[in-house]
Amino acid sequence: MAFDSPILTDRGEILAQFKKVRRNSQTMAAALTPEDWMLQSMLEASPVKWNLAHTSWFFETFILKIYDGKYRTFHPKFNYLFNSYYNHIGKMHPRPERGLLSRPTAQEIIDYRSYVDDAIAQFVEKAPDDDIARIAPLMALGLAHEEQHQELLLTDLKHALYQNPLLPGVYEDADEDPGGDAMPVHWEKMEGGICEIGWNGEGFAFDNEGPRHKVYLHPFELACQPVTNAEYIAFIEDGGYENPAHWLSDAWEAVQDHHWRAPLYWRKAEESWRAYSLFGEHAVNPYAPVCHVSFYEAAAYASWADARLPTEFEWEAAASLFPLKGRFLEDGKPAPPRPASGDERLLQLYGDVWEWTASPYVAYPGYAPPGGAIGEYNGKFMSGQMVLKGGSRATPAGHMRVSYRNFFPPQARWQFSGFRLARDC
Ligand SMILES: [Fe+2]
Repeated sequence: MAFDSPILTDRGEILAQFKKVRRNSQTMAAALTPEDWMLQSMLEASPVKWNLAHTSWFFETFILKIYDGKYRTFHPKFNYLFNSYYNHIGKMHPRPERGLLSRPTAQEIIDYRSYVDDAIAQFVEKAPDDDIARIAPLMALGLAHEEQHQELLLTDLKHALYQNPLLPGVYEDADEDPGGDAMPVHWEKMEGGICEIGWNGEGFAFDNEGPRHKVYLHPFELACQPVTNAEYIAFIEDGGYENPAHWLSDAWEAVQDHHWRAPLYWRKAEESWRAYSLFGEHAVNPYAPVCHVSFYEAAAYASWADARLPTEFEWEAAASLFPLKGRFLEDGKPAPPRPASGDERLLQLYGDVWEWTASPYVAYPGYAPPGGAIGEYNGKFMSGQMVLKGGSRATPAGHMRVSYRNFFPPQARWQFSGFRLARDC
């Protein structure tokens, strides 16, 4: 069970990592206003304020309340307010109403974070070695959880601010530089055969990344880079959104229901496409990877292009041949969209955009969720969602692994999600 994976057990290193990740969340939030902190634009997204409190609740609930006999709860109602979905822990505030919580105030949430930070620091410094060994996997999980919420903080806020007709930019350094050139697209042949898939046992991993197991892959080809904006515009201009032949049945219904005609956040101004980002609205960079498309749109594009999406196994088998490097979150801000560059055979595998795969998010052979509340973290969501790989330009650097499995419903567009093509050979 990967939550028990070998990880930091030195208390100095645990605390250093804890302080760094917690400080990063606060730096990201400090770039925003208290009004920004309140916004919730849809059921699936949460306010910044709730994200900041919920990540603190996680450490309080799964470490302090269980292992620190001296810990005194910060506020008796916070367990109800900031429990996300853990039925083992108790009832929770309705998710769609998270944006209605003007109280506790922003300052009270900051105080809550400080209180939990101090309690964790004192506990890690003084706890017996046995307790440190027990909490080490939970600390790693809590930090990975907080990093996941750092990305969600940005994707949720971006969706919320997009509802504002002013299309406000959060960050001052507007990204107007379209920069870069088109990379010649080529297909990289992969031999296939029996491949090992899943977490390899080094460092931390989520439970859903294991057990490591063998799969058989037929030979396949993978595009050297994700589909670009220019390529996607060709799909749009060829009537891609008007032709049901390219769309899965549910996807075609979504196109009609939501009036999709372009990726989320796009707007056509005269003859050129512009996209909203946290830097404000900017010209779409033609050679950067297309972003904010659903699995449905990715699959439709693949059909139009006489190709398909790779399975998560094909993606992982190919990516494991290359070093883990890419463009991730920079100084608490999403890295600006950029074209692929470099001379490796496969580019932009990591960072830039999450890549939709053709694989449903289901358990690997032999998987069983951990017992108790923590078992609700991943396993209970293995229905109706698709796997995405590789991380995005809003994913904290250091958070990614080749075995990492993100998952979202096929209609979701508000994550930094793109795709690359595969085909049989
Ligand atoms: Fe969470």
